[in-house]
Amino acid sequence: MTAVRSILCFFFDVLESSLARFFPAQWNPLLNLGALGFFFYWIIAVSGVYLFIFFDTGVQDAYASVEYMTNDQWYAAGVMRSLHRYASDGLVVVMFLHLLRQFGLDHYRGVRWFSWVTGVVIIGMVYVSGITGYWLVWDRLAQYVAIVSTEWLDRLSLFGEPIARNFLHPGAIEDRFFTLMVFIHIAVPLILLIFLWIHLQRVTRPRINPPRGLAAGVFASMLVLSLVHPAVSQGPANLAQVPESLGLDWFYLPLFPLLERMPTAVTWGGAAILTLLFVAIPWLPPMCRLQPATVDLDNCNGCIRCFNDCPYDAITMVERTDGLPFERQPIVDPSLCTSCGICAGSCPTSMPFRVGSKLSAGIDLPDASMAELRTSLHAAAAHLKGDRRVIIFGCEPCLPQLLVTNETVATVPVRCIGQLPPAFIDYALTKGFADCIVVAGCAENSCYYRFGVQWTNGRLGRTRDPYLRKRVSDDQVRVIWAGRHGRRNLQHLLLKIDADLEEQKNRKARKNDRVVAERSKSHA
Ligand code: HEM
Ligand code: SF4
Ligand code: SF4
Repeated sequence: MTAVRSILCFFFDVLESSLARFFPAQWNPLLNLGALGFFFYWIIAVSGVYLFIFFDTGVQDAYASVEYMTNDQWYAAGVMRSLHRYASDGLVVVMFLHLLRQFGLDHYRGVRWFSWVTGVVIIGMVYVSGITGYWLVWDRLAQYVAIVSTEWLDRLSLFGEPIARNFLHPGAIEDRFFTLMVFIHIAVPLILLIFLWIHLQRVTRPRINPPRGLAAGVFASMLVLSLVHPAVSQGPANLAQVPESLGLDWFYLPLFPLLERMPTAVTWGGAAILTLLFVAIPWLPPMCRLQPATVDLDNCNGCIRCFNDCPYDAITMVERTDGLPFERQPIVDPSLCTSCGICAGSCPTSMPFRVGSKLSAGIDLPDASMAELRTSLHAAAAHLKGDRRVIIFGCEPCLPQLLVTNETVATVPVRCIGQLPPAFIDYALTKGFADCIVVAGCAENSCYYRFGVQWTNGRLGRTRDPYLRKRVSDDQVRVIWAGRHGRRNLQHLLLKIDADLEEQKNRKARKNDRVVAERSKSHA
């Protein structure tokens, strides 16, 4: 599993950086796969409603009505048909890329099992919707799809009579059966929408809309494709004849030739094993269960920052129970907590300056607490020498890449960069532990815990609580969203910081020399 994930990660990193040359950071399609899935869904829904106005649901007239739309009304219904087709294909592409990316990024274990398992159900629904869509055209491809899929279903003997009988001869198929297919083709996508909603129940503020520019670009490309290469039918269905050659849709129907030829044990057995395997993936080793966040009411004033910042909806604010004069208190649902520590990073009581008392935050990770973070910071500072010392606060998911230790550079790991309270940066600089602080984490838009990078940008930019104190100047803190493959960028940044610190030191020395010279001149 780990090897497969590493290969996938490498593949996506290469693809992501190649696309980054053509798209602005926020528009990179690979960082918007889920949102693009929704976008394709809406195009399918709107074009589907338009097509339904002209579609004849009777088996005798369905083909003719589709032909009318494609040829006579090519400029409107024809374009809608093509958009419907290409958006459906696009949905399959982004869905599988999204799945592979979530898998590669290790975004499926622990509490994320919920999004994963509902995702597996979504795959099934997308396919049922797409395959039944092909039936409705009632051309030769529809005939092939109908026969192969009903024969495959009949192999389970679920129905009293084999449903493939409907396609034995030209008069066999009834309008009622055909209308049932139309109903399934409309009902399943509607249920799919409900499942998409369920899919996102455990993530806060999911990004379901792609950036406008990306959406416009994707839509324009599909429109051009629809005009240049419109979707067409493959001749009317004729149950008296077996279609000789057909153009298959490789997005929805790639397994149909196998369904036709392989024995039941292979096709149904394979489908069952693959589905079970997919559902079970979140529970397969290597397992890693981190301890969920816990609340310490003695240090909580009910400010709701942790509630606002949690990326997984794991915190609820409830009425105060301990008699202290505050309205609310947070409670953490351990089954939803990913142990990212972002809540601790936002808590005003994550204050390293409290040297006399034990550092105990209102909300904290038992296995990676604020007190331990302060101890790691002290240990890192103790190793540093010279007057160009740098401390890197780096997030665990990227740490193998960010780990730099020598006489002048030390790395302090945090679970997610969002776990770092800005007060720690202030503390490290005020106490003289370092001459510059580097804050390093996942690539922007690609945070392992979803909002760590975003919230940190806000905190350091002093637009989101808790703010970095004003006494910390911008050149004392450098931010790098290096990601898993950003070691070279980090090295460049460290060289730049070293040169800047050297320059600062020289400037200071020159200034001191000037002051001394002026003083001695005035004494003379
Ligand atoms: C049409 C299909 C799908 C759509 C439109 C879709 C959409 C989304 C969106 C919008 C998010 C939230 C992303 C964010 O804001 O961080 C998400 C999360 C997620 N999706 Fe999907 N999804 C689809 C299919 C799937 C499939 C097939 C799987 C896997 C079997 C899957 C697994 C996940 C997981 C694990 C997350 C949680 C990621 C995290 O916790 O950071 N999705 N999906
Ligand atoms: S550790 Fe992360 S997921 Fe858990 S409560 Fe805190 S912010 Fe939410
Ligand atoms: S951020 Fe800290 S003080 Fe504020 S509600 Fe959460 S635990 Fe309490």
